[in-house]
Amino acid sequence: MKQKMIAATTLALALGASSAYAEEAVNPRLLRRFKPIRVEIDSDQNPVTGEKINLGRMLYFDARLSQNRDLSCNSCHPLDKYGADGEVTSKGTKGQRGKRNSPTVYHAAANFVQFWDGRARDVEEQAGGPIVNPAEMAMSSPAEAVARIRSIPGYAPIFKKAFPDAADPISYENIGKAIGAFERRLVTPARWDRFLEGDKTALSAQEIEGLRVFSNSGCMVCHTGELLGGSMYQRVGVVEPWPNQSDRGRAEATKSSADEMYFKVPTLRNVAMTGPYFHDGSAPTLKDAVEKMAKHQLGVTLEDNEVAAIVAWLGSLTGALPLDYIKPPVLPKDSTVTASVK
Ligand code: HEC
Ligand code: HEC
Repeated sequence: MKQKMIAATTLALALGASSAYAEEAVNPRLLRRFKPIRVEIDSDQNPVTGEKINLGRMLYFDARLSQNRDLSCNSCHPLDKYGADGEVTSKGTKGQRGKRNSPTVYHAAANFVQFWDGRARDVEEQAGGPIVNPAEMAMSSPAEAVARIRSIPGYAPIFKKAFPDAADPISYENIGKAIGAFERRLVTPARWDRFLEGDKTALSAQEIEGLRVFSNSGCMVCHTGELLGGSMYQRVGVVEPWPNQSDRGRAEATKSSADEMYFKVPTLRNVAMTGPYFHDGSAPTLKDAVEKMAKHQLGVTLEDNEVAAIVAWLGSLTGALPLDYIKPPVLPKDSTVTASVK
């Protein structure tokens, strides 16, 4: 079966008929379970405006939101590196290691919930987490973070513009809303989107083969929709137990034994750029991650060429970085401490 498919690819390419092959190789009904990425991920609760985005970008890069003025969101989610820090687990205040790998912030706004265990509803709520997390930005309270921002005189007019109707625009909630609005435009459309929109030449024959193996072996049961993930929780180690059982996943947030080892299925967009992989950072390469998924989630061993094809196809999910959008902004000056972009 497999050999035949490869022969068909070669033949189709030789005949210059790769698009006909693409139609045949991937069942169109399966293909409909994926969706091109929205370029605007909107929210009724937090309408996105240019003013909010400007403010959110500043706050995202402003290390003064951390206790020691040394960590910003961008320290652990560097936007010029696809929004992930490349560490097994992130380094927080005073070099402390957290226990989880930092997920990318690109497309995070489209996740059905935030964090590996889903403990925040949306990016607006999520943004309030790390600022007061003792192992991350380590502010002692939301009030302290707000006081810090208030102490920087240049922020007042910028908050006023972003939240024109608020009596008191500088609040912890509005810090989250501004950062959230900024994140709602962190999207990187890729060749994969062109393929889904009908350009069958957007993927190479090997990439199409990878998509076929991915679909046929069952990966897309969990990695589906516009993010190829981000739409459900699943147990890691469904077929074969996950080697590292120290992080109990969603059960740590819900305290329910039914949630043991459940994690949010992560997006696969830009996955080639965001290693190491998994909540525990235990897979250094994408090849390793794909093999572990096949083994632990599906109980199958993929052939080397099948793994290589999936890895090649995953590469088509890498989009171009929005370089203008993510340019570090000039921050309002602090009257006592020099502003620092981290
Ligand atoms: C010290 C490193 C660190 C800092 C600083 C940090 N984060 Fe994170 N971030 C992480 C880690 C680690 C996780 C995963 C934690 C978990 O799931 O329990 C995470 C999760 C997230 C997520 C969830 C993504 C998803 O797919 O679920 C978003 C969004 C995010 N961070 C945005 C931010 C923003 C905005 C800031 C600044 C206010 C920030 N982070 C500061 C390390 C950091
Ligand atoms: C039963 C659901 C399920 C199936 C089937 C599944 N996955 Fe996953 N996938 C997950 C979950 C849950 C995670 C997060 C696990 C963790 O971090 O501990 C994940 C994580 C990943 C990651 C790491 C992403 C990152 O940013 O860390 C990759 C890559 C991946 N899966 C690819 C695949 C491939 C390829 C297949 C098919 C061979 C597959 N998955 C099958 C649920 C699934």
